[in-house]
Amino acid sequence: MDGIPKGAGFQPPAPVPRTVPPSRLEIIRTVLKNPLELWGLPSYTWPWIVTRFFGQTTIIANDPGLIRHVLVDNAANYEMSEIRQLVLRPILRDGLLTAEGPVWKRSRKAMAPVFTPRHARGFARQMREQSEQFLERYEAGTEGVVRDIAVDMTELTYAILSETLFSGGIVSEKGDFAKDVDDLLHSMGRIDPFDLLRAPKWIPRLTRLRGLGVLRKFRDLVRRTMDQRRTMIQTDREKAPDDFLTLLLELEGPDGLTPEEIEDNILTFIGAGHETTARALAWTLYCVAHSPDILDAMEQEIDTVIASGADPVEWLDQMPNVRASFEEAMRLYPPAPSINRDAIADDRYAAPNGEVVDIAKGTTVLVMPWTLHRHELYWDRPRIFDPSRFLPGEREKIGRFQYLPFGAGPRVCIGATFALQEAVIALAVLMQKYRFQTTPQTKPWPVQKLTTQPAGGLPMRITPRKP
Ligand code: HEM
Repeated sequence: MDGIPKGAGFQPPAPVPRTVPPSRLEIIRTVLKNPLELWGLPSYTWPWIVTRFFGQTTIIANDPGLIRHVLVDNAANYEMSEIRQLVLRPILRDGLLTAEGPVWKRSRKAMAPVFTPRHARGFARQMREQSEQFLERYEAGTEGVVRDIAVDMTELTYAILSETLFSGGIVSEKGDFAKDVDDLLHSMGRIDPFDLLRAPKWIPRLTRLRGLGVLRKFRDLVRRTMDQRRTMIQTDREKAPDDFLTLLLELEGPDGLTPEEIEDNILTFIGAGHETTARALAWTLYCVAHSPDILDAMEQEIDTVIASGADPVEWLDQMPNVRASFEEAMRLYPPAPSINRDAIADDRYAAPNGEVVDIAKGTTVLVMPWTLHRHELYWDRPRIFDPSRFLPGEREKIGRFQYLPFGAGPRVCIGATFALQEAVIALAVLMQKYRFQTTPQTKPWPVQKLTTQPAGGLPMRITPRKP
C-alpha cells in the first residue's frame, strides 16, 4: 500500500495575514463578520503578543511553552473567557462546555467513562452502519449528484451522534432536530457588539433575544426526551438502551447531577458533538479533492483494509493515510479555531530562554489553533495541505502544544477519540463508494462562527467510483 508522497502540496483558501493594523472600527466589523480575517503577520510569526483589545489586556499565545503553562501547568488560574461565556452560557448553562468549578469537576468525572478510548471503540459498528445508511442519498446514477457537503456532513455526524449516544431517541417535532439546534446555536451563539464593548450585562443583546423562543422550544423537547426515557427505565430497566442518555439519567441525585444539569448536557453534547466533526470532514474531502496523489493513497488504503474484512474498530489504526488527511485538514481548518481563557490572579510565565511574560489578573489569553497551526516558527510550509506530516514516523515530531484541534489540559475535548474514530470510519465508507470532486461553484471561504465553516457552503460533485 502506498503512503502519501511527502511534499505534495495544495494551498487551500485562507485570509492573507494583515500587514497594516486595522482601525478600531474595522476591528469591530471584522470580529462580528469573521475573526479569522483579523490577524496580522505578527500573529503568525511571533511567539506571543501582548496587546490591548477594547480596554482589555490580551495576550495572543502561540509559544507552545506558554500554551502549556496556561492550559495545563497552571490551568487552575484560568477560567473560560468572559466573552465566550457571554455567548454560550445563556444557551448551554451548566453543560460541560460552559460549567466552571465544582459543577464542571463533578460532571466531567461522571461522564468521562462514556468517552474513554475503550468505550468509544464500542461505537465503531454503529458509526459504520450510520455512514452506510447515509450513502443511500447518493445513489443517483453514474453521472453523480452535486450536493453541499457542508450540510451533508452535518446531517451524517448528527445521525451518528444521535444513534450512538441517544439510541435515536431524541424527541423531535419535525424530524430536523439537528438543523434546529444548529440554527439555535448560530442565532444565539454570536458575539453581540455590546459584548465587545463590555456593556453591562443588564443591557439586552438583541442578537440573543431573538433566539429565546427557539431555546424554550428546545428545552421543552429535551425535557420530553428525558421524561420518555425515565418512564422506560422505571417500567423495564432491561429494555432501556444502555447509552449516554440512560447514564445521564442514572446520575441524577443529590451526589450526582440535577435535572437541569442533565438537560444542559443533552443540549451541550448535541451542540458540541456533531458540528465540529462535520466541519473537519467537509474540509478534508475538499482538500483531498485537490490532491490527486493523496486521494489515490487514501483510496488504495481504504479498499485494501475493507476488502480484508477488518472490523471497523481497527480502521483508525489500519488507515494511517485517512487519519493523516483528517488531522491535516484540522490543522488548516481547526473546527474550534480559538480556545480562550481569562487569568483569575496575577501569573508569570518564564520561557526557557529567560524571557518572561507577566499575565495580570483579568488578562485574556487567546490560544488560537487557527494561528498556531499556521505559524511560521513551528511548521514547514504552513499553508500547504500536506498530510504526510501526520504519518507514523513524522507524527511523533509534532509537539503536543503545537497542534491543538482538541485543546489540552483538564478541559481537553472529552469527545476527541470518539471524533477521530468517527471521522476515519465515515471517510472510509464514503470514499470507498464515491469520489468527491469540486465544481466551478466550489469556492469556500473559511469563516469563524462557532466553528470554522465554509462560507457559501461546499458544493461537490459526487460520482460512484468504478468497482
Ligand atoms: C473534530 C471534532 C471535535 C473538535 C475539533 C473538538 C474540539 C474541542 C475543543 C478545542 C475543546 C476544548 C475547549 C476549551 O478548552 O475551551 C472541546 C471541548 C469539548 N468537546 Fe469537543 N471537539 C470535537 C468533537 C467532539 C465530540 C464528538 C464531542 C461529544 C460527543 C465533544 C464534546 C465536547 C465537550 C462536552 C467539551 C467540553 C469539555 C470540558 O470542558 O470538560 N467534542 N472540544
